[in-house]
Amino acid sequence: MRILETNSYEEMSLLAARMIGAQVLLKPDCVLGLATGTSPLGTYSELVKDCKAGILDFSRVRTVNLDEYCGLAADHVQSYRYFMNTNLFHHINIDPENTFLPDGTAEDMEAECRRYEALVQGLGGADLQLLGIGNNGHIGFNEPTEDFPRDVHTVQLTQSTIQANSRLFERIEDVPTSAVTMGIGTIMKAKRILLIAGAEKKEIVHEALFGKVTPMVPASVLQLHRDVTVITCK
Ligand code: F6R
Repeated sequence: MRILETNSYEEMSLLAARMIGAQVLLKPDCVLGLATGTSPLGTYSELVKDCKAGILDFSRVRTVNLDEYCGLAADHVQSYRYFMNTNLFHHINIDPENTFLPDGTAEDMEAECRRYEALVQGLGGADLQLLGIGNNGHIGFNEPTEDFPRDVHTVQLTQSTIQANSRLFERIEDVPTSAVTMGIGTIMKAKRILLIAGAEKKEIVHEALFGKVTPMVPASVLQLHRDVTVITCK
């Protein structure tokens, strides 16, 4: 595991974008695993800059996102599809047909979970999976539990996650209470993992990387992956 400490959110974002950019340059048809949230916003804006400058070409890249809220349609401003479109996909030369997220509005969520797991594996898994980390150690929407969930599945969000995510909604009651997420097994099948974490995540990052490997701190499983880079900031 490589741990890189940067001096600021901007530096962290630039470094993360450089790593993702290197992946795209080395393998133009790579599969990028992507995340939403505050952590990757700066990274995405650096990728947009590099694409507009002609340094990066996303025309053959495929993307798979970690998760999506249940019940929010693609055009809902709080959906993760909307987040990805507005913060990345609409500003780079990626083929929209090559961008994948779980469908949080599927009528049969069990079938949707199976479909999305098969889709990710059918693409050969992520060459590089970008992750953020929740205050409780969650990755994707894998909340602390008794066991590491293996495949794509639906989850009830914990109160702490609902609270944390409510900053992006008008009222806390508007935050969906469930989501569909890649499992820990899906994430661990990525060839390389890049975790980015702002200064406010210092304690949980330390616990995840140096504490006991336990599903009560889902990100601790990353200690068992062979190719993880963590970028933190002071
Ligand atoms: C988002 C996701 C979550 C976030 C985590 C951190 O797709 O899977 O695990 O990465 O909640 O969120 P931020 O970056 O907003 O602190």
